[in-house]
Amino acid sequence: MRLETLILAAGKGTRMKSKLPKVLHRVGGKTMLQHVIDAAKKAGSEREVVVIGSGAKLVEESISGVEFVMQEEQLGTGHAVLSAKKNFEQSEGTVLILCGDTPLLTAKLLKDFTAFHEESKCVATVLTAKMPDATGYGRIIRESDGSLEKIVEEKDANELEKKILEVNAGVYCFDVKKLFSALEKVGNDNSQGEYYLPDVLTILKSAGEKIGAFTAQYADETLGINSRVQLAAADKVFRMKKNHELLDAGVTIIDPNTTFIDYDVQIGQDTIIYPNTYIEGNTVIGEDCAIGPDVRFTNMKVGNRVTAQFSYCHEAEICDGVTLGPYVHLRPGTTIGENVKIGNFVEVKNSTIGEGSKLPHLQYIGDTDMGSGVNVGCGSVTCNYDGKQKFRTKIGDNVFIGCNTNLVAPVNVEDGAYIAAGSTITKDVPKDSLAIGRARQTNIEVWNDKRKV
Ligand code: UD1
Ligand code: CA
Repeated sequence: MRLETLILAAGKGTRMKSKLPKVLHRVGGKTMLQHVIDAAKKAGSEREVVVIGSGAKLVEESISGVEFVMQEEQLGTGHAVLSAKKNFEQSEGTVLILCGDTPLLTAKLLKDFTAFHEESKCVATVLTAKMPDATGYGRIIRESDGSLEKIVEEKDANELEKKILEVNAGVYCFDVKKLFSALEKVGNDNSQGEYYLPDVLTILKSAGEKIGAFTAQYADETLGINSRVQLAAADKVFRMKKNHELLDAGVTIIDPNTTFIDYDVQIGQDTIIYPNTYIEGNTVIGEDCAIGPDVRFTNMKVGNRVTAQFSYCHEAEICDGVTLGPYVHLRPGTTIGENVKIGNFVEVKNSTIGEGSKLPHLQYIGDTDMGSGVNVGCGSVTCNYDGKQKFRTKIGDNVFIGCNTNLVAPVNVEDGAYIAAGSTITKDVPKDSLAIGRARQTNIEVWNDKRKV
């Protein structure tokens, strides 16, 4: 069976009180709309059409691999579907409809749901969920025999209907031809003056078609996000799920409540994550590492046996066996070679640090190619910027850089060179030589005695 999906994402999301379109808010580091698209694709959808309107340009720029259709005015979910009529003229069979604000939908749930729709031979099926608090959702009204009667929006519901805890999850399967012909008949005679998609179900039912309802096993997976409170709740559900997946895969997380790991992150076996740690973007961490406490890694590539604490590292690579922190800032374009020791207030930007080198305290290394076995003394700095342009510093293998050295780029310190503490190096240092670039010390003897006179 070929599955095509229509995703509604044109609404403004008024209740979010945000300048950003609602569907671009993130859960687990990924936009809500992308979550929904990924779940659909994973469930076997071969084509996704996304209805956009509010903040359309931003949405289009943030999402790829789908078709977009404009809903110029947001007149309700039924109207949103109708604006995609042309996109489905050639389609036959089933269309899956999803909302861009239900980020926790899983591929498994969508697969079970569409399979139920096909097997039951319904013309329309709605996904329902039993919520502990149904506020804000459309309520599922069932006939006395348990079959679906209709869906009533919260704003149109009477007191009795409001007590119902079974809700419309905003996920539907329709026979595509029958959907679009029934949509023409949907009116907007309701408290919001909107064209409601759920009304299609009643229209089809009155026409004698078979409609059905499928209840999700885990209501959490159908959470709809209309406000920031709900966004925070969904994020929490997502975080716990991701942490549990990693725990099950052999990663130790000391405190899952204070560990925040994004959707695409991968972590190897027997790595330990300590509290207050954020692992973001497409970060990949190897095996047997100890990460945290208080580490933030964003889009990092991290090898095996790395230990890192109290540090922020982004868009960089850390090779096997590195000891990092406390208080390291690794900035984009940096590669820290195998078994490097780096910590105690060190910043590295757009640089390569060779195997086994040591940057143990208070360094700034920027735009530098450093060899292996280098020892960088405390307080040393690469002066990579002259106020207009950036220049590179080259440091060979087994170089010894004394404390408080300034390396004024562009400059090349060759293999085996030594630099005396406190030097300001402005000229290249040849292989195996000693460079001293500081004022000579002068001792004025018995000076203190003279001063007293
Ligand atoms: C909708 C359902 C409700 C269900 C809930 C599930 C309707 C009338 N109500 O309510 O029964 O319980 O979802 O989460 O369908 N959208 C458009 N164009 C529009 C209006 C909305 O594209 O003109 C999009 C929104 O961007 C959103 C989705 O449709 O992604 C749902 O709209 P929203 O306003 O959030 O509907 P709810 O009030 O949550
Ligand atoms: Ca909603």
